[in-house]
Amino acid sequence: MTELDPTLEREAAALDAADPLRTYRDAFVGAETSLVYFDGNSLGRPLRVTAERLSSFVTEEWGGRLIRGWDEAWMQLPFEIGDTIGRVAIGAQPGQTIVGDSTTVLLYKLIRAAFDAQHTADPARVEIVVDRDNFPTDRYLIEGIAAERGGAVRWIDVDRASGVTEEALRAAVGPQTAVVVLSHVAYRSGYLADAKTYADIAHDAGALILWDLCHSAGSVPVEADAWGFDLAVGCTYKYLNGGPGSPAFAYVAHRHQASLAQPIQGWMGTADVFAMGPEYVPADGMRRFLSGTPPITGMLAMQDTLALIDEVGIQAVRDKSIALTEFAVAIADRDLAPLGVTVASPRNPAHRGGHVTLAHPLMREATAVLWERDVIPDYRDPHGLRIGLSPLSTSFAETEAGLLKVAEVLRDLGADGP
Ligand SMILES: Cc1ncc(COP(=O)(O)O)c(C=O)c1O
Repeated sequence: MTELDPTLEREAAALDAADPLRTYRDAFVGAETSLVYFDGNSLGRPLRVTAERLSSFVTEEWGGRLIRGWDEAWMQLPFEIGDTIGRVAIGAQPGQTIVGDSTTVLLYKLIRAAFDAQHTADPARVEIVVDRDNFPTDRYLIEGIAAERGGAVRWIDVDRASGVTEEALRAAVGPQTAVVVLSHVAYRSGYLADAKTYADIAHDAGALILWDLCHSAGSVPVEADAWGFDLAVGCTYKYLNGGPGSPAFAYVAHRHQASLAQPIQGWMGTADVFAMGPEYVPADGMRRFLSGTPPITGMLAMQDTLALIDEVGIQAVRDKSIALTEFAVAIADRDLAPLGVTVASPRNPAHRGGHVTLAHPLMREATAVLWERDVIPDYRDPHGLRIGLSPLSTSFAETEAGLLKVAEVLRDLGADGP
């Protein structure tokens, strides 16, 4: 059994007492248990009110309104929730954000649309720029799109404990670049890119930039309009607590909407959905980025977290996120470094999103034991334990208890020093 450090315990208690968001933790299912949840950056906890929302949807909206629900509410839901995400989480004016398919499918549609538009306007623009440590789905899609459209991938090498540097991006773009795809917060290290500067670099080279916002939306402030984003896609099941497999959102800046043709031409993206005409005529605006029937039931839960973020403000969420990750790094330095653990995330909070990765050769084995002991982080190669700290549902005491358990498990597995 780990000896609890009374100083740290006092510190965690003091930080929780001073936390302006402390009361929100109780709004989440499971917060009353002693389980430590370090994976809200993968699948966020549900809010208690969501149970009522889901149940009344079945009995009243779906069960009561039946097919009339489409006309009365559901047809508009992808746009309404999209605009809410735009307003409360990603700094987008209305009419530029929708909730649609999975992240992977939306990324495919937008990267391909951007590549085609750029390549058609200037056939010399054949490259899609992406880093070697971007999330697998982004990399695989880009390789597929390049092969499908006669393009090429320009890879950026990165330090896996950090992220794409400004210099590396500058060196990768040029008159041959069609589109740049980057993650705002890196899924492995948590590296937070300076999105405005990077967008400027892409634009100076005549390229478009698409941001993967999966690890930022609901955790880190984003200013899609002010920072000159062209396109963005993000998950809703992480910090927006939309539930397993909830659909992703896509942002397309107004200035690009008319000129982008997405490749999955379905009836829901047409100008007159129920005309059922002989050929595909894309709608104006964001509707053209839809394909088939929107997954309405998957869009229900995220609305509760969006309402919560609207209430507290994304900056308050970010302030707590920084405090939590700083606290985690301090505990790692004090209690885990003596066991040989290193911090595989940026140490400067200005360059770090909502999670911290801790590296040790035994982390894969440690993850399995931690799950058995009700501490739930996740594991990412090489040797990385990801500590996701979801600001609305995670407390400082929970963070401390979980990290001390990591030390205990590493010791049990035989770790005894660097
Ligand atoms: C950064 C990033 N991009 C893309 C994805 C893929 O999303 P999906 O499985 O919803 O298509 C994920 C999933 O975790 C992710 O973390």
